[in-house]
Amino acid sequence: MKRTFTLKSSKSKCLIGNLNVPADKSISIRALILTSYCVGTSKIFNLLDSDDVLNTLKALKLIGIKIEKKNNYYSIHGNGGLYKSPTRQLDLGNSGTGVRLLAGLLSTSKIDANLVGDSSLSSRPMNRIINPLNKMNIKLESHNGFLPIRISKDNQIFIPYKHILKLGSAQVKSAILLASLNIKGKTTILEKIPSRNHTEIMLEYLGARIKSKKNLISLESPNCLSPNNIKIPGDFSSAAFIIVAVLITKNSKVKILNVGLNFFRTGLLDILSKMGGAISISNRKTINNELVGDIEVRTSNLNCVRTTGKISPRMIDEFPILFVAASFAKGRSKFSGIAELKVKESNRLKVMHDVLKILGVNIKMGDDFIEIVGKEKYNNIKKIETFRDHRIAMSVLVFGMASNGEITIDDMSMIKTSFPGFKEIFEKIGAQIESV
Ligand code: S3P
Repeated sequence: MKRTFTLKSSKSKCLIGNLNVPADKSISIRALILTSYCVGTSKIFNLLDSDDVLNTLKALKLIGIKIEKKNNYYSIHGNGGLYKSPTRQLDLGNSGTGVRLLAGLLSTSKIDANLVGDSSLSSRPMNRIINPLNKMNIKLESHNGFLPIRISKDNQIFIPYKHILKLGSAQVKSAILLASLNIKGKTTILEKIPSRNHTEIMLEYLGARIKSKKNLISLESPNCLSPNNIKIPGDFSSAAFIIVAVLITKNSKVKILNVGLNFFRTGLLDILSKMGGAISISNRKTINNELVGDIEVRTSNLNCVRTTGKISPRMIDEFPILFVAASFAKGRSKFSGIAELKVKESNRLKVMHDVLKILGVNIKMGDDFIEIVGKEKYNNIKKIETFRDHRIAMSVLVFGMASNGEITIDDMSMIKTSFPGFKEIFEKIGAQIESV
């Protein structure tokens, strides 16, 4: 079969400017789902216009939610959780967050629904939500722990439960919380490794009876959520590609405006700062209870670093681009406790290992770690397979911006699941990136 190569990056002189990144994917998906459960109409401003988000939006329409696109916002006409059984299957495409959060919510909504996804999503584990939901007497049918997931309205008597979560997964935590919205009584979750808390923050913002103290969350139901307006901040996970690109490109200085700075998302900032990265935050504010601010970053000589599993959930989506930073840093870096990377949109542990090896990086991997010995210069004229994973594709392109030669990726189509306008934004600040 003939392969088509779609984007190519090469050594960029300098990256300069002020910019905005597209809206946060995690918060966009939650905003749609949670406002659909409110009693009344909410407005969502700056909703991410990406495939993952649009698939969640389409699924909500199929279960009876009226959603209108206005000039600069979406109106979501919530119906208090009185969803109707869809006449078609709900296809969440590539979105793990979309499918796991909706499966949680709909499992106790007394409807019949069938949830499916693309080939990548269909190979990702669903037992991580099915098992804890089972503890609340919720029965979900699946294909041996994988999609499709079938929800039946015959599910009737649910019981609250005291969950202890060892995994450090916001998707699992959120699936439990959303299912519990319809379960009379108090559900608690003790998180052994705390993960992003956007669901808890938004539930509280919309008036749910939720309390979080350290790593213990409790939700008292039934709940009646009140509509409210939500403004989505820029996605830190998208900003991460720009931050690393600027750090490893000579004579660069960029300010990224209005980025979400939730503590459980910004582990990468702590690690890059530890590596010697010149990064500063200004203009901090709180918008719909989420911390937001501007990130300024300058070219820096990076040093090696070590991370352990404790910080992994705070930067789980940023490891591919952190490996790129480590490839250009001085010394031997080691990233441990990263087995979860194996069950993302691709097996990111193996794929990043293989890709960086092809690109000339001194890299070693184990079952749950990666070790990298960085160096200053790489010479590459390479075509790279990215396994239909958006974050692999973007990481490879950033690597190309700091190396001699040029690097082409096989497929750019997945980038728009999270970062529409990736090429244009990088071009604007001076990156050498072109379609081929
Ligand atoms: C997400 C949680 C993380 C992350 C994913 C988005 C979310 O997944 O990797 O991209 O929005 O809750 P896990 O909860 O499976 O770690």
